[in-house]
Amino acid sequence: MKVLSVVGARPQFVKLGPIATALAAFPDVEHVIVHTGQHYDAAMSDVFFRDLGIPAPDINLGVGSASHGVQTGAMLSALDAVLDEHQPDWTLVYGDTNSTIAAALAAAKLHLPVAHLEAGLRSFNRAMPEEHNRVLTDHAADLLLAPTATAMTHLATEGLADRAVLVGDVMADVCFQVRDRVAGAQPDLPPDVNPDAPYVIATIHRAENTDDSLRLERIVTALREVPVPVVLLAHPRLVARATAFGLELTGGSLHAVGPMGYPHMVRAVMGAAGVVTDSGGLQKEAYLLQTPCTTTRTETEWVETLEHGWNVLDPDLDHISRLAARPRPSDEQSRPFGDGHAAEQVADILRARTA
Ligand code: UD1
Repeated sequence: MKVLSVVGARPQFVKLGPIATALAAFPDVEHVIVHTGQHYDAAMSDVFFRDLGIPAPDINLGVGSASHGVQTGAMLSALDAVLDEHQPDWTLVYGDTNSTIAAALAAAKLHLPVAHLEAGLRSFNRAMPEEHNRVLTDHAADLLLAPTATAMTHLATEGLADRAVLVGDVMADVCFQVRDRVAGAQPDLPPDVNPDAPYVIATIHRAENTDDSLRLERIVTALREVPVPVVLLAHPRLVARATAFGLELTGGSLHAVGPMGYPHMVRAVMGAAGVVTDSGGLQKEAYLLQTPCTTTRTETEWVETLEHGWNVLDPDLDHISRLAARPRPSDEQSRPFGDGHAAEQVADILRARTA
């Protein structure tokens, strides 16, 4: 069996990690990795391949940053030749980025089977580019690998139940593995933040939060007022917008640093009193690592994280300072994201369904 994985953005490299390991266990499986080049900075891309032991991409399309149409279109046109040459049994696409929809569409148009990992997530917010990417990818794909029971329900509602399989969440696989690996290490925080005292980890990168100057200013002001130090892991989009708006990402409790690699991020979240974020992946990592999360969005695709108040939505940004370092809920978590063996299930299903 030949599987061709297409990835391009940071959260996809994290999901590729356990999949690459699971596929490598089968000598009869050839795994080709295509990097679209959507994320190209070393801190956004290379470190994930190195830290998660992922083989270097076989092909890099080098598309880089552009408007959504230009970026997605560049990937689409470059993928034709790659798919034509490799004729994979499965084109495996991940999550909800522009790289996901481009690869799903390119393969579907060539009548090559497409499997979508992390199928069935919905925010029901049609202003988000990721929501279009998810819905369109699910409808184009032949096999829908769903991470949660909620995702299975969404797929059934859209008439896609017969293509859907519940496999669990590969991000739980990698999160648990890395948690156990880094448990003995010290969190890598800025020198003026004491890792043994309470601190908060924050990330903000979604267009809805970064591209509106007033909203971004309110978020930054709220983070400055959190009663414990806040380490802000600044995505390039956030840095670019803050610079354009003349907004400082420091002051008060706020300490801005660059993006962290995955193991450092896991270790930092494990030790944190709280997380403030608009990232889907980080909401879930906070839940899995049992750190309370405050989400600066009106909705979440990962509704399971809201259980017992592990994650709280604060769309109006009025409660960040109060919620950021709140006490952990005392209730036990259910295991909505699976048992940490989702990637093995994915490998088995792809092999079983290869003609
Ligand atoms: C993308 C995904 C988003 C995901 C996020 C994870 C889409 C529509 N969005 O958003 O779902 O949560 O990745 O990080 O696909 N930039 C750099 N260096 C890089 C990458 C980006 O400087 O390596 C800058 C560029 O100025 C670019 C901006 O960040 O214009 C946004 O990058 P882009 O990949 O378009 O979207 P993300 O905001 O990262």
